[in-house]
Amino acid sequence: KESEDQLIIDAGQKHFGPVACSTCGMIYSAASLEDEAQHVQYHRRLMEGIRYMGWKKERVVAKYWDGKILSISPDDPKYALKKAEEVRELVDTELGFQQSTLVCPKKTKTYLFISNEKKIVGCVIAEPIKQAYRVIAEPISPQSVSRDTLDRHRAWRCSTTPQEAICGISRIWVFALMRRKGIARRLLDAVKSSFIYGSYLTTDEIAFSDPTPDGKQFASSYCEI
Ligand code: ACO
Ligand code: ZN
Repeated sequence: KESEDQLIIDAGQKHFGPVACSTCGMIYSAASLEDEAQHVQYHRRLMEGIRYMGWKKERVVAKYWDGKILSISPDDPKYALKKAEEVRELVDTELGFQQSTLVCPKKTKTYLFISNEKKIVGCVIAEPIKQAYRVIAEPISPQSVSRDTLDRHRAWRCSTTPQEAICGISRIWVFALMRRKGIARRLLDAVKSSFIYGSYLTTDEIAFSDPTPDGKQFASSYCEI
């Protein structure tokens, strides 16, 4: 521990503790060369991955004052599928998913939220499913834990009888610096209205696979559990 501390020499840097990059959102220690190198690498990959150049053929499924939502289907042009794949890889890295395959790539739809600055700031990957297990939020006694801890770590129980469902949300992701602006909510609204041509899905017909703590928080709010 002592020798580690000694490695950090005040050479007049402005920041010692963790800093957050205002462009990519990564939190790292500016005092560590290794951390900084890692940041540069992450920064480049992310910024490249979320760059949207504009396509000749794009399927706009919703338009908002702060951006638009595109959908990408399996038989779309190569460049669109390639971008969808690139974004999926970024999201998988962030979620810690490794080499996870899609249940049915031929029927998977990707939805991208494109900001006015031409950045892909949100992504949903939706696939057709036949059934899902309803989540029942387990009430736990709030003793010494704060409300926040309670919400994040609330135990989840699944019913044992499957229910019919139509659309599985395999991934949902919003760029770290653009969260809590309703982007995920709007992406799911777009899924509901366009996943199946000519019909509108209800919240009950949508299911989330394997949600993270963030995902659970969002899903409970979206589905009003
Ligand atoms: N904590 C508490 N409530 C939340 C949170 C959170 N972290 N995120 C969303 N909510 C709730 C709130 O009620 C919110 O409404 P409010 O902001 O008016 O209070 C409501 O959900 C709607 O939130 P959005 O703004 O639409 O959600 P956002 O665009 O921030 O995206 C997401 C949510 C996608 C979960 C984002 O936090 C994220 O990308 N996290 C990292 C990746 C991740 O964990 N994704 C889920 C994986 S699970 C899966 O893919 C099936
Ligand atoms: Zn950065």
